Amino acid sequence: MDYKKYIKNQIDEFSAKGFKRTFTPVYRFKDTFPFTKIDFNNIEEEHHSTNTRIWCSNDYLNMSHNPEVIDRMIEVIKTVGTGSGGTRNISGSTPYHNQLEKDIANFHCRDKALIFSSAYIANQATLSTLCKRIENIKVFSDELNHASLIEGIKNSKADCSIFRHNDLDHLEKLLSECELDRPKIIVFESLYSMDGTKANVAEYVRLAKKYNALTYLDEVHAVGLYGKKGRGVAQECGVSDQIDIINGTLAKGFGQIGGYITGDEILIDFIKSFAPGFIFTTSMMPAIAAAASKSIEIVQTLDEERKLVFSKANFIKNQLKKVGIDFIDSDSHIIPVLAYDESKVKDYSNTLLNKHNTYLQPIFYPTVPKGSARLRITVTPKHSITDINDLISSLRMTWGKHLQRAVSSPLQPAMAL
Ligand SMILES: Cc1ncc(COP(=O)(O)O)c(C=O)c1O
Repeated sequence: MDYKKYIKNQIDEFSAKGFKRTFTPVYRFKDTFPFTKIDFNNIEEEHHSTNTRIWCSNDYLNMSHNPEVIDRMIEVIKTVGTGSGGTRNISGSTPYHNQLEKDIANFHCRDKALIFSSAYIANQATLSTLCKRIENIKVFSDELNHASLIEGIKNSKADCSIFRHNDLDHLEKLLSECELDRPKIIVFESLYSMDGTKANVAEYVRLAKKYNALTYLDEVHAVGLYGKKGRGVAQECGVSDQIDIINGTLAKGFGQIGGYITGDEILIDFIKSFAPGFIFTTSMMPAIAAAASKSIEIVQTLDEERKLVFSKANFIKNQLKKVGIDFIDSDSHIIPVLAYDESKVKDYSNTLLNKHNTYLQPIFYPTVPKGSARLRITVTPKHSITDINDLISSLRMTWGKHLQRAVSSPLQPAMAL
């Protein structure tokens, strides 16, 4: 077999369909954000020219640039160095790791937590372990679930039924068709990042109780932003203590890297005991664990910043409506602006970057369904009123003749917060 030819064919086919992955190199300087430098030459100049505004960062609360978090990370690096030196059971558990797990459990008001190198690994490792080890378990999974959830379920080879996105009636129908005494688990997200849709978590809990199912909730895009002190949508719905396993990331609302699960002691100990993806890998850098703890402490105090994110997101949505640019409306902070066409979305993204110094990465199939290509806007506390007004006028000029309806009303000069 000609392996290289075989492999190259697959890449060529993928590229020919327009799915080739290219990445934009960004210097996300902490002192100038949202102004950044896009640098295809990878030259870090002493005097940075930062003329591009970034609108697609998942650092939702700017915590990756928080001075106290940065200081904490540097302090710990200077104390214990960079790497952890091992897996959790071979010298890679430090007081920073243990403290972070306590902080996460306290944050969600649950018994225990377990940290992983990312939320992707946390999902994959936990679900594959749980669904492999609970004999004959049947999985009920939302059709828009993230790749990490799907991979975890697939790896377990458990029987799985897919329910329509956020469709509780469909979920109930599928649950009712399954034998009552068969083990079951409902796998879903509280906030779907590609559409910005939120789940009615309390209703999932009600159904889980009725049909005696476990619940696995991915709160990756919600932690830090929703619920009291940013404790997530489950907390907002008053059922945080009734979800069997909550998954979250340290990378978005908390601005660091790493993922976790939290829940009752018995379930967390189960995953700790049996998940290969938890134990057979080097633990996260101690400094990251310490920085994440600091970030969790600070994020809980950021009520004003949370309010700002939502009021700015609402302002952007209203402006988009005024200029006639289609987007998926929801009560979340995520704004998917629809370009529909796969080739058009790339043109839009390139025009925004090259002509308007506005960076919004294109999202298209297979990440989202065909014909629903989009640009996904995420606003942070550091985006100003001027930034927002410039974004809207850049979008309007880029969409230009493609706009579905004529624009008659002028833009509001500034947002009211
Ligand atoms: C819903 C969902 N779950 C999990 C992940 C993985 O998170 P992490 O970046 O911490 O691996 C993502 C990543 O964006 C996600 O969107």
